[in-house]
Amino acid sequence: MSRITISKLQAMKSAGEKISAITAYDASFSRLFDEAGMHVMLIGDSLGMVLQGTSDTLPVSIEDVEYHTKCVRNGASKALIIGDMPFMTYATPEQAYGNAAKLMQAGANMVKVEGGEWLLDTISGLVERSVPVCGHLGLTPQAVNVFGGFKVQGRDSEQAKQILEQALKLEEAGIQLLVLECIPADLAKKISEALTIPVIGIGAGKHTDGQILVMHDAIGISFSKIPKFSRNFLAETGNISDAIALYIDEVTQGRFPSEEHSFK
Ligand code: KIV
Ligand code: NA
Repeated sequence: MSRITISKLQAMKSAGEKISAITAYDASFSRLFDEAGMHVMLIGDSLGMVLQGTSDTLPVSIEDVEYHTKCVRNGASKALIIGDMPFMTYATPEQAYGNAAKLMQAGANMVKVEGGEWLLDTISGLVERSVPVCGHLGLTPQAVNVFGGFKVQGRDSEQAKQILEQALKLEEAGIQLLVLECIPADLAKKISEALTIPVIGIGAGKHTDGQILVMHDAIGISFSKIPKFSRNFLAETGNISDAIALYIDEVTQGRFPSEEHSFK
């Protein structure tokens, strides 16, 4: 497999081939995921929860993600690497430029930001300055205090319409990839069909162009409760390499997630 680029992911969407993605935080797992053929690795701000043991992602700093991006970069040779922009590190376009530069120089190929409408100028500004951007809509964990908990989003039709509209605007502003988290499967399907860029889901059903999981959830060792949309691939296989191979296979064959891992 040659190096995964954003154009390759775009071609995969066009060909109807599913994209496999997972979070990674260190060089050893990065190498294992990369060699298994994982298409995308995200240095998620989930590292606050799974590495640092905090109850949400808000305390994570740009230096934390920068450090772990360097670690992941050292283990990767093929996968596309996304650095997650932590809470309040992209509150203004200027802040976003300086902080995105840190992640790109640490080895990311793309940065990810959570939110809709308010981010349009930031996104177009980043892309103009040569930083590819991944969007993130639905249950955006940095907004947990606004949502009043980690709750499925887009269940009523007004909210569903809003998420779809935001996705279209983000695409127009220049995002080249979109993560949809914890929304009903039929809404995620609609958005994936409406957008020309690839859409990666987590707790968003099987109709997105790809899937991502927090690596700890995928091997059943999460610090907090394992979410409903995840699956313990390690329990099914008995060793990490086989667990990751199974995860990639289930995603690319369209067998994961099934109904039991999706929301209605
Ligand atoms: O931080 C993270 O791990 C994420 C994924 C769950 C998409 O944003
Ligand atoms: Na995140």
